Amino acid sequence: MAIQNTILVTGGAGFIGSNFVLSWRETVGSPIVNLDLLTYAGNASNLDSLRSDSGHTLVQGDICDAELVGSLLSEHRPRAIVHFAAESHVDRSIVGPEAFIRTNVQGTFTLLEQARAYWSGLDEAERSRFRFLHVSTDEVYGTLGPDDPAFSETTAYAPNSPYAASKAASDHLVRAWHHTYGLPVVTTNCSNNYGPFQFPEKLIPLMILSAFEGKPLPVYGDGGNVRDWLFVGDHCSAIHTVLERGRVGETYNIGGNSERKNLDVVTTICDLVDEMRPDAVLGSRRRLITFVKDRPGHDRRYAIDASKIARELGWQPAERFESGLRRTVRWYLDHLAWVENIRTKAYLGWIEQNYAERLAG
Ligand SMILES: NC(=O)c1ccc[n+]([C@@H]2O[C@H](COP(=O)([O-])OP(=O)(O)OC[C@H]3O[C@@H](n4cnc5c(N)ncnc54)[C@H](O)[C@@H]3O)[C@@H](O)[C@H]2O)c1
Repeated sequence: MAIQNTILVTGGAGFIGSNFVLSWRETVGSPIVNLDLLTYAGNASNLDSLRSDSGHTLVQGDICDAELVGSLLSEHRPRAIVHFAAESHVDRSIVGPEAFIRTNVQGTFTLLEQARAYWSGLDEAERSRFRFLHVSTDEVYGTLGPDDPAFSETTAYAPNSPYAASKAASDHLVRAWHHTYGLPVVTTNCSNNYGPFQFPEKLIPLMILSAFEGKPLPVYGDGGNVRDWLFVGDHCSAIHTVLERGRVGETYNIGGNSERKNLDVVTTICDLVDEMRPDAVLGSRRRLITFVKDRPGHDRRYAIDASKIARELGWQPAERFESGLRRTVRWYLDHLAWVENIRTKAYLGWIEQNYAERLAG
């Protein structure tokens, strides 16, 4: 059977993956096979609106399962693989790095090998059409001083956390599969995302929900760590652009030109929650801010130079940080049932373990 218009997405029930799948089905419309293990971070209910959509097939399975990946490729004959699946939370990688090596390194290796076998069996025209798009992070570049230039595609890799190291390893594998075997890959390295469907252990949703509930807002260290925030919809549009027009074998940095200190992000969230859900008893939510012991090896600053993707492919972020953060706060406050649904006992246990130790220290 010839190659189809279908794409195989991995990790499409996670935060960025589900935003990508939803927007792809809405705007592009070609079929998606979505391979997701549905770990604690994967949530099939993110895709509830696609329940009766025959163009979306969710397969619960592991990217480390070579047989499964191989059979999905031969059954669906996709024209591309868009690889989101990963263990993605830095704090979890510090407590338990093994899962990160397994999924991020071994899983990417398995996908590459299965993609290579599938791609090798295509005819020449189909081989040149096929793409393996690897979604990665700016954390592979390590940390910046206050006046250092932003990370570019030629910045040397210097990962500092087990998460970042596992993503760096996967980036190197992807690069090598292109240089050694000719697999048509493209890699994107993106800054911190925020927006709907982000698991509530990450900074922005954790702060929105804790502020709403009147709980302490745990800010690591002095709150001076800087991240370059990108609205998730902009990340999805960048991935789409790179998939269609990115040059094979290249990497593209993606960022929002929105460097903000963590403490400034948290105070803005407090003010937005105060405005949208005023609470006379609590007063200003800013007083819930609690400084906690810093994360070990906490990178001080990330900033992305996204000029290559702008210059070569004409991509720019559409959302400003202030309007994107307002939309995001509104989304969480309007989707408390979604939040309740994913707040499993395992998740609550993890939050207690992670922050109880820091509050004690
Ligand atoms: N969140 C960010 O700010 C950010 C920024 C840049 C890059 N990235 C990268 O984007 C990708 C997606 O990030 P996210 O924030 O959406 O992560 P996430 O943790 O929300 O989602 C990851 C998804 O992968 C699935 N998964 C995990 N292990 C799997 C396995 N072995 N087999 C199949 N599926 C598995 C999970 O069930 C989940 O649905 C990751 O590769 C991450 O490194 C994230």
